[in-house]
Amino acid sequence: MTKIALFGATGTIGTRVLHEALRRGHEVTAVVRDPAKLPDSGTGTGTGNGSGGGGGGGGGAATVVRGDVLDPASVAAAVAGHDVVVSAFGPGSGDPGVLVTAAKSLIGGVRSLGGDAPAPRVVVVGGAGSLRTPGGPLVWDQAGIPAPVLALMHAHGDALDFLRTVPVEEVRWTCLSPAAQIAPGERTGTYRLGLDGLVVDDEGRSRISTEDFAVALVDEIERDAHAGRRFTVAH
Ligand SMILES: NC(=O)c1ccc[n+]([C@@H]2O[C@H](COP(=O)([O-])OP(=O)(O)OC[C@H]3O[C@@H](n4cnc5c(N)ncnc54)[C@H](OP(=O)(O)O)[C@@H]3O)[C@@H](O)[C@H]2O)c1
Repeated sequence: MTKIALFGATGTIGTRVLHEALRRGHEVTAVVRDPAKLPDSGTGTGTGNGSGGGGGGGGGAATVVRGDVLDPASVAAAVAGHDVVVSAFGPGSGDPGVLVTAAKSLIGGVRSLGGDAPAPRVVVVGGAGSLRTPGGPLVWDQAGIPAPVLALMHAHGDALDFLRTVPVEEVRWTCLSPAAQIAPGERTGTYRLGLDGLVVDDEGRSRISTEDFAVALVDEIERDAHAGRRFTVAH
């Protein structure tokens, strides 16, 4: 059992990560801006609710606390005592540049923790824009990408550039980029791995369900296989 602090638990990806972690018996603290917004999915909205969620598994425990990923002091207060911090934070329709603020706040908050316990590992959900297409350009250099999507892609790239400056001896970080297309769907429990290259299928498509992305993310929590680097997954 791993103690996980999860930012973004009310979001599209974070909801699936929450369920996947709980079904495998992990203990999750959902760190949210507004506890009332957490969907009624078996996690409750108070503290210390251990009903689990997601179904189909042993059912770990979930606790909900209020916190702000953009505030390092709030991050430190929320993640103290956890083994792994996961950020599925997203800026919504706001300034994508806050993705860099969030990455710095996460690392700063973890770095500020004192005590004898090892600092929590940090696993950040990234973007697909900075992945290299097979034999071709980076995803964000392809034609026809709308400007707002490009801005989000580059903000994720800037956040990854910052993470790459963080020595793993100080904070053991990992960034997981989705496939080019990610959407809610089936949990197959399978995926293929890549590092900085877009993973595509036989027909050249790069896709993953949000559920299987969550499987890969929780696998990374359990295996600690990509410390100090970005990796990606696709069907
Ligand atoms: N879904 C995709 O297609 C896709 C593709 C590639 C990359 N990504 C990246 O993956 C990440 C998650 O995506 P998503 O689609 O799951 O996003 P989402 O549904 O918009 O969820 C974003 C989450 O961030 C939380 N949040 C916002 N500001 C916060 C703050 N200051 N402190 C703490 N939490 C805060 C939101 O909480 P509230 O409920 O309080 O708003 C929400 O839980 C994003 O960075 C996104 O760019 C997504």
